[in-house]
Amino acid sequence: MSKSISKSLGDKSEFPKIPDEFLERYAPLVDDVDEFVGSLRTPLAKAFRVNPLRAEVEATIEKLERHGAKLKRCEWYPDAFVCEGIDPNSTMENFLGLIYVQELTSMLPPLVAREELTSAGLVLDACAAPGSKTTQIAALMRNEGALVANEPNFGRTRSLKHNLARCGVLNTTITNFDLLQFPKDVEFDVVFVDAPCSSDGTVRKSPNILRTWRKERSLKYMNLQKQLIRKGFELLRPGGALVYSTCSLSPIENEVVVDFLLRNFDANIEWTPVPHFQLTPALTEFEGVTFRPEVMRAARIWPHHNDTNGFFVTKIRKGL
Ligand SMILES: C[S@@+](CC[C@H](N)C(=O)[O-])C[C@H]1O[C@@H](n2cnc3c(N)ncnc32)[C@H](O)[C@@H]1O
Repeated sequence: MSKSISKSLGDKSEFPKIPDEFLERYAPLVDDVDEFVGSLRTPLAKAFRVNPLRAEVEATIEKLERHGAKLKRCEWYPDAFVCEGIDPNSTMENFLGLIYVQELTSMLPPLVAREELTSAGLVLDACAAPGSKTTQIAALMRNEGALVANEPNFGRTRSLKHNLARCGVLNTTITNFDLLQFPKDVEFDVVFVDAPCSSDGTVRKSPNILRTWRKERSLKYMNLQKQLIRKGFELLRPGGALVYSTCSLSPIENEVVVDFLLRNFDANIEWTPVPHFQLTPALTEFEGVTFRPEVMRAARIWPHHNDTNGFFVTKIRKGL
């Protein structure tokens, strides 16, 4: 380990030790190890987006600033703000659904399908609770068309239902299937698979993840993720778009899963630039395994590039 990394690891005593295995896995993948480690050790400011189904941006911002909020608008998403000075969770604007408190990276999957959503008739959010992306998808659909928000965990559907009501979402039905059992009666224009994952991209929000981090954990998720991406893809109409995302940095839960889909189905990845936001092309190989070259059109988000959590997102088109 380089001297500067060790120094950076020793600075803040309350922050858990970054496991050697974690660094062995990720240091070779990043452009700047010191920046990467430094960002992991820097807590993430809260962020929110103004909900256009309930509120107008400038008026909402004015109100929050009167409560003492110090807000920084995101260049890449004018509805989104980084918030310091107050906890946006505890504001009346949040209770009333004028804003939705959400990590910035979590806003990317709906954004990369923004164009499709403006004209989509039928959309599936396959792993939906608590509804951060569902409420954003519904807003991008302008509450039109039909959105199915699926969540197998009944307890978690309660928070989903609450968030839909709070945010004034009217075009959405909740279903309670394991996605693998979801009926194949209809074909969707857009499917979101925001997969359950090891969440090791969220260290800045939940540093304790590091205390129990094991690289083997990704393998357990990978098996489910491959089944979920396959089922999500099967539910698409020809020409439809699947958005796959995780808040994990692990290639096992990201590139490996996407590569599996490309090898087995008529699927094409589309690179989805987000102006003013730095996306990194996904890996073309990992631990001796070479992926299909198109896999690099998927996007990695490293925490030190945009001052966010780590994330992975890709838009995949089904052949006609
Ligand atoms: C990363 S969370 C989704 C977060 C959500 N999309 C949001 O933005 O608020 C993953 C979700 O997948 C659900 N899940 C787990 N296994 C599933 C399965 N077999 N089919 C569908 N969803 C599943 C989990 O219960 C969890 O709510």
